[in-house]
Amino acid sequence: MTHGNHYLNNYANDTASAYRNLEDAGKKPVGSVIAKDSFSVTQSKAIVLGPLFIMEKMPSGFNYVSGDWKYTLIQPDGTVFGETRGANAERVEYCIACHLAASQKNHLYFIPEDYRITH
Ligand code: HEC
Repeated sequence: MTHGNHYLNNYANDTASAYRNLEDAGKKPVGSVIAKDSFSVTQSKAIVLGPLFIMEKMPSGFNYVSGDWKYTLIQPDGTVFGETRGANAERVEYCIACHLAASQKNHLYFIPEDYRITH
C-alpha cells in the first residue's frame, strides 16, 4: 500500500474544505492544509500509531515541482521527520515525486474510489 501498511484518515482545514468534493474540488487556495493520520494493526491485533502526513498549500513560487505544496512527515512521537524546503527536506522528496503523478488533480489523490462512502 502507498503509505505503508497503514490505515488512514484524511482531514482538511476550512480553507481546504472543497476537498470533500474530491476530484471536482479544483485548485486549493493558499493556506489549505490536508492532514492524514495513520495507524496499523499488528498480527497480535495491537494498534500502533503511525506517522502523520501533511500537505500545506504555500504561496506561488514556493516550490514549482510540488505545485507549491509543502509536504511534512511527523513521526508518532511528534518530531518532524522532514518538510519541503525545511529541515531534512530530502526525506520528503519522495512525497513530491509520487504526488506529482497526480498533477492533473492539483497533486491530490483523494481516497481510492473503492473505499469512498457516498452520501
Ligand atoms: C507512492 C506514492 C505516494 C507517496 C510516496 C506519498 N503519497 Fe501521499 N498519497 C498517495 C495516494 C495514492 C493518496 C490517496 C489515497 C490515500 O489517501 O491513501 C495519498 C494521499 C495523501 C494525502 C491526502 C490528500 C490527497 O492527496 O488525497 C496527504 C496529505 C498525503 N498523501 C501526504 C503525503 C506525504 C507527506 C508524503 C511523504 C511523506 C506522501 N504523501 C507520500 C500516494 C503517495
